[in-house]
Formats: sequence, C-alpha cells, structure tokens
Amino acid sequence: MAILNTAEPVVLGIETSCDETGIGIVKGRRLLANVISSSMQEHAKYGGVVPEIAARAHLESLEGTINQALAEAQITRADIDAVAVTAGPGLAGALMVGVAAAKALALALGVPLYGVNHLVGHVGAEWLASEQDLADPTVALLVSGGHTSLLLVRDIVSDVTLLGETIDDAAGEAFDKVARVLELPYPGGPHIDRVAADVARWVERERAAGRSISRADIAASFQEAVADVLVTKAVAACKEYGAKQLLLGGGVVANSCLRDRARAECTKNGVDLRVPPLSLCTDNGAMIAALGAQLIMAGRRSSQLDFSADSTLPVTEIMV
Ligand code: KG4
Ligand code: ZN
Repeated sequence: MAILNTAEPVVLGIETSCDETGIGIVKGRRLLANVISSSMQEHAKYGGVVPEIAARAHLESLEGTINQALAEAQITRADIDAVAVTAGPGLAGALMVGVAAAKALALALGVPLYGVNHLVGHVGAEWLASEQDLADPTVALLVSGGHTSLLLVRDIVSDVTLLGETIDDAAGEAFDKVARVLELPYPGGPHIDRVAADVARWVERERAAGRSISRADIAASFQEAVADVLVTKAVAACKEYGAKQLLLGGGVVANSCLRDRARAECTKNGVDLRVPPLSLCTDNGAMIAALGAQLIMAGRRSSQLDFSADSTLPVTEIMV
C-alpha cells in the first residue's frame, strides 16, 4: 500500500444513511465534487422514506454517482488516497449498501477506509465552507428529516458529545407530518415555509371564502414554535458550555424562520453563527469526505475492514 498523503489527502466520501446517495470528493480542505442522487420522488407517494426502497435505490445509483463525482472532480480512481463512508447512524439497509461499496472500492484501490459518524459529518461540512476551524467549544444544532440533535464539539476528531435530541420525531419529520395533515406535498418542509410566508394573503382569501381554518396560520405558528424551541435550546447550550459559536446543519436549515430566529438570537447573545451553504447542510458525501480528511490529517489510523454499519452509532464514536 502506498504511503498515505496526510498533508492534503484526496478523499472520496460515500453517504447512504437515508434517501440521498451522496458522493463527495475533497483534496484536503478543498471541495472537488459533491454529487447527490436522491430517491425522494420514489418515497413521495408514501409520505415518508421507505427503507427498502432507499436501500435499493442506493444500489442502483452508487456506481453512476461515483463516476459522476470523479468526472466533476476531474480525477481518476488512481488519484484517490482514501475512502470515507457513513458507518451510522441511519437506516440499516441503506447504510449497509454504502459500507459494502466503500469496502469494495477501498480494497480494489488499495487505499485506507474510514467508517465515520454521519452526525459528526454534518459538523465536518463546515470545514469546507470556512477558512477558520471551529472554535473550542462549538455547539452544533443538527435538524433534518432523520435527526434533531444538539452536540457539543470540542475537537471534531476526538471530542464530540450529545447534549440532547428529540425523543420521537425529528424536526424535519414533524414538518413532513404537519404538511401531510395540511394536504401539502412531501417533503413538507419547503411547502410549510412557502405557505407560511403567504400568511396574510391566505388569511384574506380564506376569510373571503367564508372558511375558518387557515392553513397558512397553522404553518406559520408551527414553524415559529419549532424555531423557537430549537434556537432557544441551542443558545442556552452555548451559554451553559461557554460556546462562542453555534453551527447549524441538516435539511431543515433551509427553513427561513429558523435561520432568521437563529441569526437574531445569536446576535443578541454574542454568539458567532455558522451556517454552511445548503448543499453542505442536507445529507451529502462531501461532509463525509471532509470528516475523513480531517481524521487523516490528524494522523488517525483507518478503520478495520471488518466493521459493520451501525444504525444507532452514538455520536461519541466519531469513527469506527
Ligand atoms: O437533511 P435532509 O435533506 O435529509 C434527511 O433528513 O436526511 O433534510 C430533509 C428534511 C425534510 O424533512 C424536509 O421537509 C426538511 O428537511 N426541509 C425543510 C425545509 N426544506 C427542507 N423544513 C423546513 N423548512 C424548509 N424550508
Ligand atoms: Zn443527516
């Protein structure tokens, strides 16, 4: 096996924990490619992600997505120094497809493999978006269809702890469910966001039609309530742990109300708010590649090839 380039490694990241097949390629801190193939449309008619459909879709799209990412990065397989893959948490079958593909690729190329934690990967994405490393400590609020987690990050390669998470539905899931009740399409988050912005016009129209239920009212109040709880808790955590930085991640970060609220509260409390571009917030392979690169650059040894996907991998296990 060739000696690993630890200064600026070219890392290919594979993310398959949910319905997005994400392939990202980084060279050190530089993002070379970030390609997503989503099976979302196949789940739309069920109103939520169907695990078996997601796993099958990953299998079908992985090779093409890898090829597309290599083309976008303008490199060949021979240029890859290491492979990183989401080992968990996530949907068991979906994770298994990605892990098996990553093992095969690493073995075929004779390069090391890093099995990494999906949630920590969301934090790792920020590294690509900014020149400055995260402050120690940083609080990270991750909100997506699959998770609502509040993390305390002291060092991304060695010290991440869970401060709290939702007991049942993740924030994005709650958005999707409320949207379904309001007869809005799946995934519901963007529709709630849009409808809520139309609140004044909608109320007017509903009143004129003599109707008393206002979808816009419900959407607006709902997202206000979600943003309020999430931001209040995140800022409280910053204060409690002396964190001067709050990082947002996950697809729900697209929500305008949540962003506005976070911006306002952070300004008020002297907290530096970091929000990576949305393409790095939603599930993607670049964040996995970025975490892999950070582990390599910190001198971490690669994973043993016999590790398994772990659907409930705790956030404290940054790599397996
Ligand atoms: O991180 P993500 O792309 O995928 C996973 O959950 O794995 O997040 C998707 C979630 C969905 O639940 C979707 O409804 C929500 O993010 N979402 C939003 C908005 N855009 C997407 N929620 C609220 N407001 C939005 N604008
Ligand atoms: Zn995620």
